Formats: sequence, structure tokens, C-alpha cells
Amino acid sequence: MRVTKAVFPVAGLGTRFLPATKANPKEMMPIVDKPLIQYAVEEAVKAGITELIFVTNSSKRAIEDHFDSNYELESSLLERGKHELLEMVRGILPEGVSCAYIRQKSPQGLGHAVLCAKQLILNEPFAVLLADDLIDGGDSSCMQQMVSVFQQSKSSVIAVQQIATSETKKYGVVDVGNQKEKVTKILGIVEKPQPDKAPSNLGVVGRYILTPKIFSLLEQTTHGSGGEIQLTDAIAKLLQFESVHALQFEGKRYDCGTKLGYLEATIAYALKHPELADDFRLCLQGFV
Ligand code: UTP
Repeated sequence: MRVTKAVFPVAGLGTRFLPATKANPKEMMPIVDKPLIQYAVEEAVKAGITELIFVTNSSKRAIEDHFDSNYELESSLLERGKHELLEMVRGILPEGVSCAYIRQKSPQGLGHAVLCAKQLILNEPFAVLLADDLIDGGDSSCMQQMVSVFQQSKSSVIAVQQIATSETKKYGVVDVGNQKEKVTKILGIVEKPQPDKAPSNLGVVGRYILTPKIFSLLEQTTHGSGGEIQLTDAIAKLLQFESVHALQFEGKRYDCGTKLGYLEATIAYALKHPELADDFRLCLQGFV
């Protein structure tokens, strides 16, 4: 069992970034010079994924254009002898990787967005990556770490990280036997619990490997927290049929769905950008 398909739900409204996201997709916002969605795609491809499935809506055209060829731009770069830039633009979608797009008619939540991909996944395990969670995994990306857990456990795998007790109401929170273990079987999962109801301090971040059983469970899932069809609720049902593992991945996650997380990621990535790092460090010193 190999994981070769990944779903990128990109059909949300991005209300926390209005007005920037009124006409531009949140997932196309750049961290230095690369859009968030490209970081997520690169992470998936590094983990061996070759089929990318984007769940989009009518205002997310820019994402399709980003992963498509742009003949005008390419021939202009060629004419001007800008070969490095041309190679970079052509390499956005690596050789052997394909894209498919499917529309979510209305933003009914992450669970609903994942269900939209059912016809393209069929009966295989698949990955889900939320581009607004940017994860700097270092040598081994978060999804690579998850694929290796999946290969051993042959079960769904969910990425989790330690969160502050006061933050539980912003996350899906897992119940596990031993919170200190890097990989553990999940006993339960709950969406956005109040701190006194949270089963642990392990919050779910936007990376999943799921078995196809999730689709029939999503079909039975009704609108939950926030009036949306929650992926968390379907995972809670999945636990009645299969084991699901939580992975405390190695790496730093930036919540780019919030302004603060986005700014933090911008600074961290600028400080390790080969062309910018030195000048940017000086620039920052001027501020502090
Ligand atoms: P978020 O809740 O973080 O994103 O969903 P959002 O809804 O776009 O943003 P806010 O909360 O209004 O600011 C996480 C991911 O799931 C996708 C989003 O595009 C985002 O990448 N999503 C969410 C969908 O594809 N469909 C939905 O119905 C909801």
C-alpha cells in the first residue's frame, strides 16, 4: 500500500485575511517568494505523492494557473536569456506529477471538502494537506515522516503537536494513551473542545493520511462545530472500525491561517533565504 494521491482542500473563504483574500486565494499568499500552496505541494511530492487533487471554488482560479504552463511568460524568459528563472517556472510542477481539480459548491467545512475528492481517490489511502499550515520539517518533511509511520502501521495517521491548554478550542484534540510517545494509537478525537473538556494537549495540524473508509463515514456525518461538516467527527467514527495513529512530527509549524502565524513564517523563511538572509537580518535589527 503506497500513498500516491494527495488532496489539497483550498475552497475555504479565508475570512481571517480579508480584504487580501477577497479576490485572491489565501493559499496563493507568498511566504517570501513562493505561495503557500507550492510549499504544501513540494512537501507532498518529496513524500512520493504523484497525483495532486485540489478541491477548489470559483475564486481559486489562480491556483490552477500557478500549476499550469504559461507560454507567454516562458517564451519571454527564453527570449531574454533568463534560463534560471525559466527552469524555476517550469519546475513548479515536477515531471511525472499530475493535477486534478474538483469544485466544492459551497464551503461546508473541511470534511465536506475532503468528501468532494471521493471519486478521484477511489479505494486507496491518501494524504490531506492544508496549505495554511506551513511546516518546516528540515531534512525529512512532515508528510515523509507520516508516510513512514503509515508504511509500518497500515493505518490512518494524523499529525499532532503540543498546544497550550488555553488553545484547545482552536484545534481538533486527540485522546491518546501516553502523550509522551512520538507515535501513539488514538483513543478518541474531539473538535475544538473547551480547555476543561480537552482529552490532552495534542492538537491536530493540517496533515493527514487517511484510509478510504473515511468517505462512507463522511457521508454519514452531519454539520457539527461551526455548522460545518468536520473531518474530526468522521475520524472519531473511523476509530470504531480501524486504528488511527497520531504522530508528533519533527519540525516547526506555522499557522499561516492567522496573521501572526503568517508574519512569523515570513520572518523565519526570509532569515534562511539564500539571497535575502543577510540584508533582511540587518533590516530587522533596525526595527528592534
Ligand atoms: P480554514 O478554516 O483554516 O480556512 O480551513 P478558511 O475557512 O479558508 O479560513 P477562515 O477561517 O475563513 O479565515 C482549512 C483549509 O480547509 C479549506 C481551506 O481552504 C483551508 O485551506 N477548506 C475549508 C475548504 O476547502 N472548504 C471548506 O469548506 C472549508
